Amino acid sequence: MNTEEQKKAAAQAAVDLVRPGMKIGLGTGSTANYFIDLLGAKVREGFDVKAVPTSRASYDRAKNNGITLITLEEFPRLDLTVDGADEFDGNFNLIKGGGGALLMEKIVASSSRYMFVIADESKKVTRLGKFPLPIEVVPFGFKATAWKIENALKSCNLAAKLTVRVKDGKPFQTDAGNIIVDAAIGWIPDPVKLSNLLNILPGVVDHGLFIGICGRVLLGTKDGVKQLDKPPNTPPAKMRKQ
Ligand code: 5RP
Repeated sequence: MNTEEQKKAAAQAAVDLVRPGMKIGLGTGSTANYFIDLLGAKVREGFDVKAVPTSRASYDRAKNNGITLITLEEFPRLDLTVDGADEFDGNFNLIKGGGGALLMEKIVASSSRYMFVIADESKKVTRLGKFPLPIEVVPFGFKATAWKIENALKSCNLAAKLTVRVKDGKPFQTDAGNIIVDAAIGWIPDPVKLSNLLNILPGVVDHGLFIGICGRVLLGTKDGVKQLDKPPNTPPAKMRKQ
């Protein structure tokens, strides 16, 4: 299977795991789009499901597919979120936000009982960080925030090149009206520590490290879809040595 076939096959495997009556989170990105389209096809055959989208793009796609949309205000707890990822490691920690939807993706995934990642095999890494880490910051004082991010990275002995994401010649704007700073780090030796450091910086709204949220990866490979489950004895992120 080529990359697109792997993404689609992973999405189909996730659709097969959705049970009638579930309330699910819909991710954002090309792999999540396959999931939305395949789920939509099932909905049009009468399958009952309700969903919270994680971006305007996924909202539009799900609506066009006839999927019943709900909000987290109406239903604060979801059964399952299915989303793509830019990278996942052996601890099922993720880098997300390549599509700029990380804030809502993290809110929705962390409000769900389970998060399944659907991915092609290029997303599996031994160590996170080859993909630049997206960091969502408020526009006010963003250069001061970038300086604080650099200092936080230095305190972890990381030297990263920070770039403000641009689209159509202007700073990319997230659905929440924020800016994305992409941090080209290279290798993140301690994702938990870095996540905690970034979480407390004024001006940082959120970042693309998803720690301890994903429990299963449906991985499209050349030879078919592999279901990877997080070992039950993996301690929750906050209990791991920081
Ligand atoms: C969007 C994301 C996506 O899940 C991630 O970028 C993967 O995208 P794709 O499925 O297109 O490779 O985090 O914010």
